[in-house]
Order: sequence, then structure tokens, then C-alpha cells
Amino acid sequence: MNGNLIIKNASELVTCSGFAAKKGQEMSQLHIIPDGAVVVQEGVIKAVGTTQEIEIALAKSGFDLAEFDTIDARNKAVLPGFVDSHTHFIFGGYRAEEFSWRLRGDSYMDIMQRGGGIVNTVQATRAASANELLQAGIKRLDSMLAFGVTTVEGKSGYGLDKNTEIKQLEVINHLDGIHYIDIVPTFLGAHAVPEDYKGRQDEFLDYLIEAVMPEVIERKLAEYCDVFCEQNVFSVSQSKRLLTKAREMGFKIKLHADEIVQLGGAELAAELNATSADHLLQASDEGIRKMARADVVATLLPATAFSLKEPYARGRFIIDSGCAAALATDFNPGSCFSESIPLIFALATLYMDITTEEAVSALTINSAAALDRAETIGSIDVAKQGDLVVLEYPSYKFIPYHVGVNTVEKVIKKGNLVFDKEKGGMTYC
Ligand code: NIG
Ligand code: FE
Repeated sequence: MNGNLIIKNASELVTCSGFAAKKGQEMSQLHIIPDGAVVVQEGVIKAVGTTQEIEIALAKSGFDLAEFDTIDARNKAVLPGFVDSHTHFIFGGYRAEEFSWRLRGDSYMDIMQRGGGIVNTVQATRAASANELLQAGIKRLDSMLAFGVTTVEGKSGYGLDKNTEIKQLEVINHLDGIHYIDIVPTFLGAHAVPEDYKGRQDEFLDYLIEAVMPEVIERKLAEYCDVFCEQNVFSVSQSKRLLTKAREMGFKIKLHADEIVQLGGAELAAELNATSADHLLQASDEGIRKMARADVVATLLPATAFSLKEPYARGRFIIDSGCAAALATDFNPGSCFSESIPLIFALATLYMDITTEEAVSALTINSAAALDRAETIGSIDVAKQGDLVVLEYPSYKFIPYHVGVNTVEKVIKKGNLVFDKEKGGMTYC
């Protein structure tokens, strides 16, 4: 595991080249190199070009090729590793029963109002030990890795009290250290109103601001602060107060915005220059335009709309308005119990009027930008981290075409082959 790797003969090297979010029409540009090659040294991309160019450069450079593993990607497309920029993957218990209630017609918010939903997972997460959360987390990350995910965001928000929020974040940070996947931690203490603060949202926010967030930031347990800005959860003004304080403390900010009701979350995200606003099913035209002007990444979560039988976010309008759109799974035990990247591609392309090229940008460079990491991951460019996927097909076009099926054959993290379907899965060192 020295992070030295050469990939040659890729039928398409889909570089997604760029160091910032791609907005609007830029999302269609994948910067593909036919018969491409890439050199990764000590985990960092050192050279990108055609196989012929790279072979010539290697011959001149005096590199000791014996120190490099080589992958022949003939008839295979190579892409940047996928970035899943919105998940809630650390939780206790499951909510299969709630799913069946929803199939019978109960709405997500009704279930939440009568004390189910997020609060149900809160009880199970409070009861779970850190080790139980850790073991479950490893399994979930292993599954994500097999889908080609090399960086994931993970939120707290199933504690709603200091101990459990911190326990979740400690587990997330621990996992970042032991798993191949890089994890970006987000504090989502304002995910729901706990039982003991019912009807006292503002007091709960005071508690988070005064008693929980200082320790989170001091111990560097989270990079982002997020909030569920939604009718009957946290209002626009409450969300604004929380996020403004969070930024003062040193958090970057993002929000769950306009998911069920058009509340003005998109407008708030623009006003605060949040890194991203996520969901946006009900976002207003003006809110979306403001986000485009303010460079807020629009993170779309189609598997959640699908699972809740809600209308999809207006992907076409959002991109045509000049926004940078990202796509993510929203993997969580309630509204979307799925970490499936193939499902995201299927829904985005078949139901949201997003092209395959745009979807690829949305799951790579733009989801990296949704985590403020477009300078280090999300594309195959010199000086970026060597995070790559090799497909079992010759073109990225097979990703949505082989609908609902995982087309990823190999996953490379920091120049090391960490997953290989041909070798039966995870290639532990
Ligand atoms: O992004 N909407 C709020 N939060 C999550 C759902 C969490 C849950 O249901 O457990 C979401 O959909
Ligand atoms: Fe979410």
C-alpha cells in the first residue's frame, strides 16, 4: 500500500477536470481523454494524458516503474471516485415499520408529528454503544465503497443531546481514521426538536449553541453545521440564528432546505452564502436564482423524493438557472434507506431531466465542491488525491444505461486498489 499506481489504456479517462464547482452548462463538460492513462505517486496524481503521452513521459522521467502497480484498463472507463456529500449513516435501530406505514399512506411529517420518525432513531441511537455504532458504520462504509464512493459526508443529529451528538461525531471521526473512505463530519444537532423541548425550539437552539457546539468546534469533531429548516421543525429565522452563530464559531454551513414545504430555505442559503443547500424539492424560482448568484451548491437527493413519493427537485431548472448541482444519497434510516449510487444515476437521468454528463459532474466535482473540497478531490487532475473508479464497461454512458446495477469494477483510494470485483470485493492490506 504505497499509493503508487499507473492506469493505462482506459477507453475513456473521464477526468471531470476542474478545481471549482461547475455551474450550469459547464456541468456537461467531462473533459474525456480517449485511451487515457494516469499516474499516481504516493497517493497524489502526478500525470494525466493519453497512454502514449504518459509512456513517453515515464520513459524520460527515470521513475522506477518497479515501485508502481499497473492496471490495464482496456475497454474500461476510469472516473474520479464518487463523493456522497449528504448522508446520515451513523444511527441506531431501523424504521422498517415506518416504511410500511408510508406505503399505506401516512406521510413522513405526520409520522414525525406523532413522535415517530427521526425521534424514533434518536431513542435507538442514544441506547446504542459507540462500538455498536462503529461496527454498523464499517459495514455501511464497505457497501458505499463498493459503489465507488471514496469520500462521504456524515451527519450527527440522532442524539439531540450533548452526549449522544458527541458520541455520533466521535464515531464518525474514528471511522475516518480506520476506513479507506474519507469522511467529512457535520453537526446536525438541529435535526428535530427532542421530546423535552417540544414547543420550545428557541430554547433548544440556545442549548445547542451554548452547551454543545463549543465543545464540537473546540475538539474539531465537525467541519459543518447543518439544520433541518422545515415547517414544524426549525423556521427560517431560527435556522438563520443557528447558522450565523455556527459560522462565528468556525463551522462551515449547509442546510436541509425546502424539502416538504416552500419555506424560503433556498433564499436563506443564498443570503448566508452557505456551502450548499440540500433537497430543494419545493424551492422557489427566485430562491434557486439567488443560490446560483451566491455560488451555493444545490445538492439534490432524488432517492429521498423517490422513497417519500414526493415530486423530484427541478433538476433541469436548477442547472439551467446557472446553479452548480450536486447529487447525493441522503442515506438514513427514515426518508431514504439507500446508499445506492446506481439508483441516484437512474432517478437523476430518467426522472429529473439531468443528462448523464451532468449527473457525473454532480457526483464528482460538484459534490466535492458541496464539501468545499473541489481543490483536492472530485476530478482526475494533477496534484489531486488519487481517488478513482474503474468501470466494467468502456464508457461512463453505461452507468445509467445498466439501470440500477453497480457498474464499478475497481476502486482506488489514494493510489491503492482497495476494492476489486474481480478479486471478490474488498482488497484488505
Ligand atoms: O434528509 N429531512 C430530514 N432529515 C433526513 C431524514 C432523517 C430521518 O428520517 O431519519 C433527510 O431526509
Ligand atoms: Fe438529510
